[in-house]
Amino acid sequence: PFALYARLRERSPLLHEPRADLWFLFDYDSVKRALQDHAVFSSVVTRPGGRTPDWLLFKNPPQHTKLRGIIMQAFTPRSIANLEPHVRELSRGLLAPLVGRGEMDVVAEYSSQLPTMVIAEMIGIPVEGRARLLGWRDIMLNLSHTISEGEEAERARARYVAMRDEMRAYLPVILEERRRAPKDDLLTRLVEAEVDGERLDEREFIAFFELLLVAGTESTMDLIDNALLCLLEHPDQLARLRERPELLGSAIEEVLRFRSPVQSMYRSTKRAVELNGRVIPAGKFVLPMIGSANRDPGHFEEPERFDIGREPNAHLAFGHGIHFCLGAALSRMEARVALTDLLEMLGDFRLASDAPWEPREAFHVHGPKRLPLRFEPGA
Ligand code: HEM
Repeated sequence: PFALYARLRERSPLLHEPRADLWFLFDYDSVKRALQDHAVFSSVVTRPGGRTPDWLLFKNPPQHTKLRGIIMQAFTPRSIANLEPHVRELSRGLLAPLVGRGEMDVVAEYSSQLPTMVIAEMIGIPVEGRARLLGWRDIMLNLSHTISEGEEAERARARYVAMRDEMRAYLPVILEERRRAPKDDLLTRLVEAEVDGERLDEREFIAFFELLLVAGTESTMDLIDNALLCLLEHPDQLARLRERPELLGSAIEEVLRFRSPVQSMYRSTKRAVELNGRVIPAGKFVLPMIGSANRDPGHFEEPERFDIGREPNAHLAFGHGIHFCLGAALSRMEARVALTDLLEMLGDFRLASDAPWEPREAFHVHGPKRLPLRFEPGA
């Protein structure tokens, strides 16, 4: 989409699409403003053709502040550091049986698995429940990618309704366990949490659960895959990283900028607002295009160049302001672990030429649907 963004951004940083009445923002300053200025740009939106989940992501203060407070403690630097050894173990466990094969589809066999296992660990889902979790995640992602009407959308919705019934049956069982025997995990926090003196109800539990399952898995998977893709497309940068592994952190930031896993967010205008000399009326659906802002030449020098040592790199891949991604430190850590392991365990790897990688057909997220790699077996 990047060439299209550049053309549109050059023509006008703000685009009104009259048929669906959508307002697209393409330049860095407007995108940043829309993400952070919650007095004007509300997160309570109804997606065209879709439902709006009951998640804190789509709430405004004061409700947003309370809900975010409940799970924030699970994401402190100490909690993330405590998780790191588990993530390494999970990552190596996934890769060990694959390295002897000399080929794999990273998406199916690694990157779609790791973040879900990590989120299960973090929430406190017992190991027996994890296969079920992977199934639920796929149903939710399928639903969020099917915004069109028709038979396929109907099927996705039907699967989702069945999934919620399963969740309703499953969650009380593990929550009851935590009530009896609290642990140091997110489930226990949710059981003990209060909003305005009241415990969370079933609907609120499910909302947290769904949000973490979706927000915590797909974009981290995309970050890992996009990192491999960027490095394979820029062999000089891959060589540079192998020579200077201390650049890994900034390489991940550059992947977040260059191929942002979340390409756009949603907002709605609470009142009329002027941006770039044009007025967006009140009550309009706005799309801050993060993927475009991150390549805005007004903000980044040579934005089309992938440079793992880029400095400064104030990208907007995790949003900005009160909704800034809660999982940013977690996904950065997962990506560091994943890339360290992949670079080491796969040795000299390359894209499979007979089965090319394919992008996912989804509008607001960005990453490969499949990413087949070849490497020296047992490297
Ligand atoms: C919010 C991106 C990983 C949990 C956001 C937002 C963005 C984002 C752009 C802001 C939304 C807005 O302004 O409306 C990403 C990317 C990720 C990632 C690119 C990986 C590369 C994660 C992970 C978790 C997570 C691993 C949890 C385990 C959340 C939550 C919010 C959020 C809970 C809502 C925060 C709020 O509304 O206050 N994320 N995310 N994210 N993210 Fe992430």
